[in-house]
Amino acid sequence: MAEKYSLFAPLYDLLSAEYPVYHAGRRLGVDSLGLREGEQVLDLGCGTGLNFPLLQRAVGPGGSIIGIDRSAQMLAQARRRADRQGWANVTLLQADATTLDPREIARRLEAAGSRALSDAALATYALSLMTPWRRAWSGMLGLTRPGGRLSVVDMQDPTGRFAALTPLARLACTLGGADITAHPWRGVEQDCDDVAHFSARGGHLQIRTGSRPDPSHPGGSWTTAPDGTSVRQ
Ligand SMILES: C[S@@+](CC[C@H](N)C(=O)[O-])C[C@H]1O[C@@H](n2cnc3c(N)ncnc32)[C@H](O)[C@@H]1O
Repeated sequence: MAEKYSLFAPLYDLLSAEYPVYHAGRRLGVDSLGLREGEQVLDLGCGTGLNFPLLQRAVGPGGSIIGIDRSAQMLAQARRRADRQGWANVTLLQADATTLDPREIARRLEAAGSRALSDAALATYALSLMTPWRRAWSGMLGLTRPGGRLSVVDMQDPTGRFAALTPLARLACTLGGADITAHPWRGVEQDCDDVAHFSARGGHLQIRTGSRPDPSHPGGSWTTAPDGTSVRQ
């Protein structure tokens, strides 16, 4: 699937049904993070950087955006977007989110002048392409500071009176390589505190945002996995 994105990277923004459908979800995801000026935010599976304008507005020039993606071609589009806008606070790393070692990423971030742990992280329409998504989610959690916020924006079958659009939604996901049955927001529900639920476009877009539990504050039982990530017991 990375190959598909690499091939179509220059056309992604045009073909992604951004304004009729998917922009609504990314806006809810970014807004629900409650970003403050000066914060560092991680965008996992950032693609061409369609989240960057919203993130940039929230963190300002004193903040920073870390974009991680497996596709060099998608990252090249993201770099072009940042350069066009004159955003000097965007760091892009090429990595496979399902196999990344958070400690290795932390080293690369520190070498690039960024902090290892971000204040917030999001993944929009990305985890449902990653198999297994739980590995990518675990990395995302491990790269966010305790108490930081995380948001997953992804897709499921539309519900209620919008259920008739299910074949269309499934076709869009199949073409994009996403598994519409993955429901990766379950990671937020399972591993985060103070989880907020949002949906849009007849339930097709699902958003969950929560806080990474802070082991220095009571309220959960956490352990550190061999790869350095935190997992709830
Ligand atoms: C549907 S696009 C979404 C891009 C962006 N988040 C957005 O909202 O427009 C999915 C992105 O996930 C990336 N991706 C897929 N599998 C990946 C993996 N295992 N590790 C990192 N990135 C991956 C693809 O290269 C692609 O850029």
